[in-house]
Amino acid sequence: MNLGKLETFGEPGAVVYLADCLELMRSMPASCVDAVFADPPYRLSSGGVTVRGGKLAPVDKGAWDRSLGSFGKDHEFNERWIEAAKRVLKPGGALWASGTHHIIFSLGYALQISGFRIINSIAWEKPAPPPNALHTAFTHSHEILIWASKGRGHTFNYDLVNSPRPDSQISTVWRIPTVPRREKRHGYHPTQKPLRLVRRALLASTKEGGLVFDPFTGSGTTAVAAKELNRFFVGSEMETEYAKLAARRIRAAERGCVLRDIAEAYPLA
Ligand SMILES: C[S@@+](CC[C@H](N)C(=O)[O-])C[C@H]1O[C@@H](n2cnc3c(N)ncnc32)[C@H](O)[C@@H]1O
Repeated sequence: MNLGKLETFGEPGAVVYLADCLELMRSMPASCVDAVFADPPYRLSSGGVTVRGGKLAPVDKGAWDRSLGSFGKDHEFNERWIEAAKRVLKPGGALWASGTHHIIFSLGYALQISGFRIINSIAWEKPAPPPNALHTAFTHSHEILIWASKGRGHTFNYDLVNSPRPDSQISTVWRIPTVPRREKRHGYHPTQKPLRLVRRALLASTKEGGLVFDPFTGSGTTAVAAKELNRFFVGSEMETEYAKLAARRIRAAERGCVLRDIAEAYPLA
């Protein structure tokens, strides 16, 4: 695949390729990105139901979220993109993968088989989850983020994400509300992640000026978080509508604004 022939969205420093992630990664040089943040399809859109606004509603996020035919095939896809991501990551680079119980064990297994070192598994706790309408299980109130690294030497900006008090270190349970309305003003994506969540992951595990890659860009949350933290971004997205949404969000973001806010709130003594 010739990268120059692909349609792109965004701007210099934050580029979204309209492409299948496996094909795009094949065209990227080895060891070229500092971090990967991946929120892959959970393969949930297969006729199930959920509760929306107090009513039962079908779970259908789009064709991209359907199973590839069996759990084995879905797992094989996870193995393929994780292997491809490993090739484009620099040694010591970070890989974040998010998911619910539907996919997270496949991702964890594929990461370990591929030789990634798991650093933490983060429970993203969502306050005020919708109730379990059918009273058949505990209500789902968290997702998991796996933080892994390609070998040793990973980055952890301890001082940027922790308070100076050793007894109040940030833990692996992150209580962060779901996406606020203001983050949806540029358009709709059914599985958009909150900026606070992705920002914290990137702030903790990447350096200013580093290059972040998102194989499943969606509405561009990783791109916006990277730009606000003065990191560079490249991503792939298969749906034109979402690549355009990501571009609108990227354009509206201010490069480095979150780093400036942090510096103002915590000036060096
Ligand atoms: C779970 S969503 C990501 C949401 C994103 N984190 C956000 O905050 O908006 C997954 C996205 O990956 C895209 N996608 C699915 N399979 C893909 C593939 N093979 N290559 C590139 N993009 C893909 C889908 O169109 C969807 O927008």
